[in-house]
Amino acid sequence: MSASREFDLIIWGATGFTGRLVAEYLYDYYGTDSLLKWAMAGRSQEKLEKVRAEVADEKVPLIVADSHDAASLDAMTKRAKVICTTVGPYGKYGAKLVAACVNNQTHYCDLAGEVPWMREMIDTHYEAAKANGTKIVHCCGFDSIPSDMGVFFVQQQAMQQTGSPAQQIQMRVKAMKGEMSGGTYASLNDSLEKAEQNKQLYKVLINPYSLNPEGEQDGPDKRDLQTVVYDKAAKSWIFPFIMAGINTKVVRRSNALLGYPYGKEFQYDEAMMSGDGLRGRARANAMLGMLGVFMLAKPGTVAKKLTDRVLPKPGEGPNKAKREAGFYNLRFYTTLAGGSKAIGKVTGDMDPGYGSTSKMLAECGVCLAKDDTPDVAGVLTPSVAMGDALLKRLQDNAGLTFSYTAK
Ligand SMILES: NC(=O)c1ccc[n+]([C@@H]2O[C@H](COP(=O)([O-])OP(=O)(O)OC[C@H]3O[C@@H](n4cnc5c(N)ncnc54)[C@H](OP(=O)(O)O)[C@@H]3O)[C@@H](O)[C@H]2O)c1
Repeated sequence: MSASREFDLIIWGATGFTGRLVAEYLYDYYGTDSLLKWAMAGRSQEKLEKVRAEVADEKVPLIVADSHDAASLDAMTKRAKVICTTVGPYGKYGAKLVAACVNNQTHYCDLAGEVPWMREMIDTHYEAAKANGTKIVHCCGFDSIPSDMGVFFVQQQAMQQTGSPAQQIQMRVKAMKGEMSGGTYASLNDSLEKAEQNKQLYKVLINPYSLNPEGEQDGPDKRDLQTVVYDKAAKSWIFPFIMAGINTKVVRRSNALLGYPYGKEFQYDEAMMSGDGLRGRARANAMLGMLGVFMLAKPGTVAKKLTDRVLPKPGEGPNKAKREAGFYNLRFYTTLAGGSKAIGKVTGDMDPGYGSTSKMLAECGVCLAKDDTPDVAGVLTPSVAMGDALLKRLQDNAGLTFSYTAK
């Protein structure tokens, strides 16, 4: 990639709910006079000007590019070292941008959580991106950075402590507070509708190793938790975590892309904790019931109409007070080689989906543009693409903490 590009970073989708937060963060944290050269992009000049007036100033350049106009994407991607995109659903609007980035050797990061679409991007672009040195990095928000970087961190600590990787990590969401945006709900609907129309996509959704390279799509892990069980590791009742189907696949892809530093028998799963005793069990069952209504609400049904009515529309999401009151606290119950135990912990200082996600995505963009990152390319995961450089940025700038305690 040319070192002399006009911009280090362009945030495309800056007029949407999450993209606007990324632009606001870049303006507040890096300003316009620092060494970071960045621009806001979207499909409407008028809307970009309005959002810029609210979150930044006129020194931030604006770029118009539409997902349906390949020439505009080509022109935009030639101007920057990195494109950060929040234009979603990615399965609807994202493919041409990835192609333009690979063609123009422009690094790329997004907030995609749409597994079948990511599989398609891997199949279409991995070889070309690897050959020309481009990093395409999906899942740079709450899914899947805390999981992927949490496991990366815990495995480093386990190696230091015992000289071997941990055999098993069970990630448990101990607590979190946050709400969904209309864009995320639209992306979830888009994925479910496509899977409904094409049963082949279900196979990609349910295979725990479906994001691994061809020929490496099996291992000891089974499907994500579907029910309520008592978890001895966490000493708590646990129930399904809606993001597990994305995060666990990303962690397994990281292990595979790195050449199995966690071992081929490494086991990883995720779930949410609801506490001990009868109350913990009742809470887990109630949460499972709510999740069931949400996931099984098929188009045209009363349940779907109800969820559509209560959940936000594209462009809407939790307000500033709610984002600032949000947080997450994840535990990584770890079984080390030889059987002894350790616990990793990852926390975030704002709501997972937007306050924290926008900081994570922005720092991924800056990391790809500015840092000395691992010498790998292709369609990658955050830990593989950015490794230690990202771990440092998340802790120094994005409000995440990572810790590890041997038992
Ligand atoms: N992984 C995570 O943790 C995480 C967290 C948050 C969000 N997300 C994902 O991020 C994406 C965005 O979410 P959001 O809530 O910010 O959505 P949103 O508010 O609906 O924003 C979508 C953005 O896409 C733009 N857009 C739509 N069609 C376009 C087109 N044809 N060409 C160019 N731009 C177009 C919109 O532009 P206009 O303003 O002009 O309409 C808007 O800027 C979703 O896919 C969501 O699932 C993921």
